[in-house]
Amino acid sequence: MDIGINEKDRKKIAEGLSHLLADTYTLYLKTHYFHWNVTGPMFNTLHLMFETQYNELALAVDAVAERIRSLDFYAPGTYKEFIRLASIEESDSVPKAQDMIKELVAGHEAVCRTARSVFPAVEKAADEASADLLTQRLQIHEKTAWMLRSLLEK
Ligand SMILES: [Fe+2]
Repeated sequence: MDIGINEKDRKKIAEGLSHLLADTYTLYLKTHYFHWNVTGPMFNTLHLMFETQYNELALAVDAVAERIRSLDFYAPGTYKEFIRLASIEESDSVPKAQDMIKELVAGHEAVCRTARSVFPAVEKAADEASADLLTQRLQIHEKTAWMLRSLLEK
């Protein structure tokens, strides 16, 4: 395989994208979990908002995984690997609606940090395709974090 990026650089980028995949999947699962279990006066708003968000995250994991494959590495896809690779913690109970929002803000911010950490390797290798994907993911996670954060204002 010769796409103009050497194996060492492709491996480094694929590893970074694997962390992004694990974080995105963990946030996907958390958002779907909250969609099922949210209660309280904001039920309708949050149930629907979380649905829009988990659908977007489900598409995103596919795009990230397929970018890893395009770099000729296998994409992680087991809970064991995702737990090892993710920087986002699972929720071990059902939080109150306001705490769900706070947890999701923290989750989206964590994905931003993970995506941003992959840029040095991507830029070194002039991997514009991965840079484009990372930029799109950053825009969406920063925007979603802002929208969720706005719900918390009194
Ligand atoms: Fe549903």
